[in-house]
Amino acid sequence: MTKVLIDCDPGHDDATAILYAAHHLDLVGITTVYGNQSVEKTTRNALSLTALLGIDVPVARGCEQPLLRPFRHGGDVHGKTGIDGAELPAPRQDVVDSHAVDFIIETARRYRDELVLCPIGPFTNVALAMRKEPRLAGWLRGISCMGGTTQVGNTTPVAEFNIWSDPEAADIVFRCGAPLWMVGLNVTRQVGITTHDIERLEAGGLVARTYGGLFGFFRQRLSEIHGLSTASLHDPCALVPFIAPELITYANCPVEIELGDGLTRGMTVCDFRNLTTAKLENIRARATTNCQVAISVDGRALVDHIMEAIVGWGDAGGAIGA
Ligand code: BDR
Ligand code: CA
Repeated sequence: MTKVLIDCDPGHDDATAILYAAHHLDLVGITTVYGNQSVEKTTRNALSLTALLGIDVPVARGCEQPLLRPFRHGGDVHGKTGIDGAELPAPRQDVVDSHAVDFIIETARRYRDELVLCPIGPFTNVALAMRKEPRLAGWLRGISCMGGTTQVGNTTPVAEFNIWSDPEAADIVFRCGAPLWMVGLNVTRQVGITTHDIERLEAGGLVARTYGGLFGFFRQRLSEIHGLSTASLHDPCALVPFIAPELITYANCPVEIELGDGLTRGMTVCDFRNLTTAKLENIRARATTNCQVAISVDGRALVDHIMEAIVGWGDAGGAIGA
C-alpha cells in the first residue's frame, strides 16, 4: 500500500484529503503549515480531524510564514477557524516533538524509495526540508501536489493560492528532480460537491454529517467569492494517481514558477509546446520535463469516489466536544 505524508493547511478540502488518504492509503504522517489560516489553527484542525476520524497518525507542526515575504492567510474562503461550518472534536493527541521540516526528512529517510509526499498547502515546509537535507528528493518515490493552474488562477488572474503564497518555496520543489505530479485548478475546479451531495452527507452518521456541514460552508463561500455553484475538492485530487489513476489524466510537461514582482508572480508556467507541436509546426518543444501536469478529470466519478469514502467511514472517532 502506498505510503503517503500529507503536508497541509486544513482547510475544508485538506480535511477531505486526510480522510481519502486514510481510507485508501498508508497515511504515515501529517505536517502542517500556515495557509488557509495561521499554523496554530491549521495544526489544531489537523489534530481535531484525527480525533474525529479515530486515526492514529502523527501530526508535526510546521512553518508560520513563507520563506521571504509576509503572508496574507486564506480565511476569507475557509472562515475564521480555517475550517468553519461544523464543530470538530477537541484534539486527543498532541503534536510530535519534531518540527515538520525534520519530520518530513526523517519519514523520507525511514521509508526510502517508498514515500509519496503530498504538499496541499503552501510549499514552505517541503522547500526548507530540501534545503536542510539535500538528499531528500532522491529518497522520495515522488511528490504529488495540489497547486497551480494551466488556466485561470484564484488568488490573482493567473496564480493559484498554494503557489502564490510562497512562490520561492514552490520553485525549489519544482526544481528538485523527484518525480512530480501537479494537479491544478484547471482540473480541481471540476471536482465539485453539489448541494445534493451535501444533503446526502447531512443525513448520514457523525463523520458524514460533519463533512456535510464543512462542505455547506465552503460551497457558500466559494459561491459568494468566486461565483461557483459547487464546493471544489482541490486537495484530494493530489492523491488520485495512487488511488484511482484512471480518473485524472496527466501529461508530461515542463513547469516553471514565476518569481518576478509583476502581475504574474506565482504563475505556474506550463510549457505545453510538446503537446501541441503537431498543430503548431515550427514550435520546438523543450527536451526535458520536470512534471506530470493534470489536464483532464472525470469530475463526477471522482466526487462519487470521495463521497463513498466519507459516507462509508465508521463513527469510531470523536464525539463532539469530547
Ligand atoms: C488551495 O488553496 C486552499 O484554499 C485549498 O485548501 C487548496 O489547497 C486551492 O487553491
Ligand atoms: Ca490546502
